[in-house]
Amino acid sequence: MTLPYGKKLLEHFKHPHNVGVIKDADAKATEGSPACGDIVTLYLKVDEKTHKIKDIKFESYGCASNIATASVITDLVKGKTIEEAKAITWKKAADELGGLPPIKMHCSVLAVDTLRSAILNYEEIHGLIKDKKPTSRNEILDRIKHVMNPIRGEDIVKTGTVQDVIFEKGNVTVLLNLEEDNQFAANISEEIIEQLQSIWDIKKINIKFTI
Ligand code: FES
Repeated sequence: MTLPYGKKLLEHFKHPHNVGVIKDADAKATEGSPACGDIVTLYLKVDEKTHKIKDIKFESYGCASNIATASVITDLVKGKTIEEAKAITWKKAADELGGLPPIKMHCSVLAVDTLRSAILNYEEIHGLIKDKKPTSRNEILDRIKHVMNPIRGEDIVKTGTVQDVIFEKGNVTVLLNLEEDNQFAANISEEIIEQLQSIWDIKKINIKFTI
């Protein structure tokens, strides 16, 4: 089946803008699409005084629609403040590309969700969250779902690598169904810490191996 892609979408897919990694990024986020399992990572450099996005780059393991949407949103938000960037919707990104086939809308949602997560990561790191509500155990689990089990190719909550999460008085303990000397133990631990460390009411993260 050939999907009805427009000229602008194909142009962004074939020659995507702002692809790559920012090594000293001020914030980053990785999101996966529940609809297709594809993944996008987005990196931000932000001016600390004006909160304007100075640079933005992305890596996508998604389809043509996702690459094109990520490319177009990086163009749209460069030079904008993080508040202006937050106002960009997947619909606006899709319109910018001249429309997307309906079965591809989730690809645009994935790109915009990743942008929002990267902005949230920036706000958390820089203490900019205004409405600070206590973080729940379920919110912690949602963050940990961003960490993949490299053998199964699915997240570590879904694959049962996470046995339990305990959150008490600012201390999080993540119990992993892994041996400490498992070849992926160090990587998985690092990624869990990366996901949780910017949350305002988490003071300490303990990873425990239960096998
Ligand atoms: Fe997965 Fe498009 S089909 S991002």
